[in-house]
Amino acid sequence: MLCKSDQREMGILLVACTLFVLLVAGEVHGSRSHATGEEVKQKFHAPINETSSIRGLIGHVSPHLQDSSDAIVYFAYHGAASAPNGYYGFIGTMDVYGLPLAQGQGSAAAVWISDEGDGAPSSLKNIMIGWDVLPDLYGDSKTHFYIKWTNDGFQSTGCLNLKCNGFQPEKGAAITPGDVIDHVSSPNGAKRNLNLKIIKNGTSGDWLVHCGLDRPPQLIGRFPRSLFTGGFADRAVGITFGGVVSAPITKPTPMGSGYLPTDVKSAASISNIQLVDQNGRAWPVTGDLPKLETNRNAYAVTPIVNGRFYYGGHEQPPMV
Ligand SMILES: *[C@@H]1O[C@H](CO)[C@@H](O)[C@H](O)[C@H]1NC(C)=O
Ligand SMILES: *[C@@H]1O[C@H](CO)[C@@H](O)[C@H](O)[C@H]1NC(C)=O
Repeated sequence: MLCKSDQREMGILLVACTLFVLLVAGEVHGSRSHATGEEVKQKFHAPINETSSIRGLIGHVSPHLQDSSDAIVYFAYHGAASAPNGYYGFIGTMDVYGLPLAQGQGSAAAVWISDEGDGAPSSLKNIMIGWDVLPDLYGDSKTHFYIKWTNDGFQSTGCLNLKCNGFQPEKGAAITPGDVIDHVSSPNGAKRNLNLKIIKNGTSGDWLVHCGLDRPPQLIGRFPRSLFTGGFADRAVGITFGGVVSAPITKPTPMGSGYLPTDVKSAASISNIQLVDQNGRAWPVTGDLPKLETNRNAYAVTPIVNGRFYYGGHEQPPMV
């Protein structure tokens, strides 16, 4: 019910953001050695289709959401969609936080690599990677590294972490999906960084997942090409990154570090953001991208500047 009334507002927001991005994009992209700013913009900076994005993203933070009439999901993210040739990878760094959450609450930092299909829920295909705190699923309020995937909107394929066959962990990988991230950032002090690189192997078509905690990303496993059908076997239509929370309406949940990004010293960030094209070339995101904030008083994102933005919010004392 929240979503219905909010979607109208989001539609308006979308138009406003899209116009803003289209107006400023030309100014913020400098020319590059092999391509002009205009080419980068065309490649990667098309507006997000918010209607389909939200539908695709809801349910990804909490499997109980659909059954739970009083749970609400909020997003604050940036994203790119509708690039003519699609997307073949994402590179970025998330700082990781600890959050004291109760049953029913969930909070995640995510990159969504997706194809929303024709709009039917079962046509959603995506891969989601990041860190999350989900007491209902893990039985604790610790921060976990997670992956999630589906080829059909979770109707009969896909799952979180290694709960089903699909993701193939690399032997000897330093981190396995579902692992606890013990040391987290302190909002005013040292940061703990999750370095991510998810990139398609141009030969096999597998999505290769690289990840490193406070060190360069190393291969930790893959989503075989054979898991996916249709266009998503070859490329993603959209890539989105930011925060998502779910909670009962009576119990708001911190996103990111819990701090609104008006306080950039304390707010969570995603930095070093790069998008990968069909030739395997990584393009640093030098300008802003469309954003979505479904409750902007509580959860927000800053514009992307030099491949970094801050996000999160909701006043709740963070755990240090
Ligand atoms: C957004 O996605 C929905 C569902 O896939 C589709 O019906 C609609 O036409 C799309 N809107 C735009 C502007 O592309
Ligand atoms: C990419 O795919 C090719 C062909 O299957 C394979 O030989 C190569 O090892 C793959 N690279 C990685 C990093 O998995």
